[in-house]
Amino acid sequence: MSGHGPAIPMSARKSGPLSGVAEVPGDKSISHRALILGALSVGETRVTGLLEGQDVLDTAAAMRAFGAEVTQHGPGDWTVHGVGVGGFAEPDRVIDCGNSGTGVRLIMGAMATTGIAATFTGDASLVKRPMGRVTDPLALFGAQAVGRDGGRLPMTVVGAANPVPVRYRVPMPSAQVKSAVLLAGLNAPGQTVVIEAEPTRDHTERMLRGFGAELTVEDTDGGRVITLTGQPELTGQTVAVPRDPSSAAFPVCAALMVQDSNILVPGVSQNPTRNGIFLTLQEMGADLVMENPRAEGGEPVADLRVRFGPLKGINVPPARAASMIDEYPILAALAATADGTTVMTGIKELRVKESDRIDAMARGLEACGVRVEETEDSLTVHGMDDVPGGATVASHLDHRIAMAFLCLGMASRQPITVDDASPIATSFPVFEPLMTDLGASISRING
Ligand code: S3P
Repeated sequence: MSGHGPAIPMSARKSGPLSGVAEVPGDKSISHRALILGALSVGETRVTGLLEGQDVLDTAAAMRAFGAEVTQHGPGDWTVHGVGVGGFAEPDRVIDCGNSGTGVRLIMGAMATTGIAATFTGDASLVKRPMGRVTDPLALFGAQAVGRDGGRLPMTVVGAANPVPVRYRVPMPSAQVKSAVLLAGLNAPGQTVVIEAEPTRDHTERMLRGFGAELTVEDTDGGRVITLTGQPELTGQTVAVPRDPSSAAFPVCAALMVQDSNILVPGVSQNPTRNGIFLTLQEMGADLVMENPRAEGGEPVADLRVRFGPLKGINVPPARAASMIDEYPILAALAATADGTTVMTGIKELRVKESDRIDAMARGLEACGVRVEETEDSLTVHGMDDVPGGATVASHLDHRIAMAFLCLGMASRQPITVDDASPIATSFPVFEPLMTDLGASISRING
């Protein structure tokens, strides 16, 4: 959906205590991967709990364009009949990944070692984002890419007909780049090796193994070394998608901001490459308890019980950034209500997300009366007793910026309006009814 629909301005105002159970949707990262790995497998993959956000629906449409049969049977209940490793057909139309950097980068990887060509595009946010970080390593396999200046979409990738395996050290902490290289390595002969200096989300590694690939992971002084043996036969699997910790962070942080709140968020992934936000909240003094820890669908999950209480500002360790990279917008909003200063460092990657998230949060918080400082790779937020609010904030086509300011509006003196909340549908389509059911005062503003 490169055509972006009408803007939906939305406003949040001071809310009564949030209470009840928040069943957040399935994990976005795992949902994309379930569809892509299903498409690269032989036989049927059944997915339950799939996130039906626009980002994932765009990946489903892309997998159909590459020849897989992708069917929805009921809410969150999908099957994929795959074409096998190396079996992608050449799409007869442009692949439109909408707002999704994960979708486009993973799919580019998945097709880059098949002798077909595909042209990719996306919405006004995605066409600004760098693709060179994936097309550089894909070129080592023998793929070619031609895009706009600066390696931007629209872009055509011509896959390598005779790919060679690759050894690649990922230059930035990025699970998307790591995953693109691993997916490309599937159809290269021999062993593809990916090295990452610090661990990023490991869903691709876990799921590749689950679908039958031979993959080893070794923690060394030089980083994590992931070795994939190419040209496996992947076979269809059943994937139960756990609830998304990145979505859970919004009701959790809202409950920590709104006085006397007490909510339960069940079945949330506690994968250690994703749980940095929860550790950070506990360090800030949050009354957050992981109840009933268990394994579901190959991932550790728990029910999160969170109660409102005083929080203090902290220094968030840069080494934790990769494990909570998508949670900085909501953390910055929460930090505005904490006692003292919160310093977030080592977060340069936020500048190339759906928006420049350091800039978007800094400008929005300032407009709401909060004191902030930013550098190229850090954001400092000075907490205050009573955030003034009373501003209209730009979401920059970024779902997490929109949700972060709506949560802050639930706890600020004056309402906060987000100029366009429509991007929330990319990752958390039920955000509005879910938050309203908990007791949040949010509403659309009719233009
Ligand atoms: C994702 C990786 C992260 C994250 C994104 C999802 C993934 O991006 O921000 O929302 O599913 O692999 P980077 O790889 O660019 O850090």
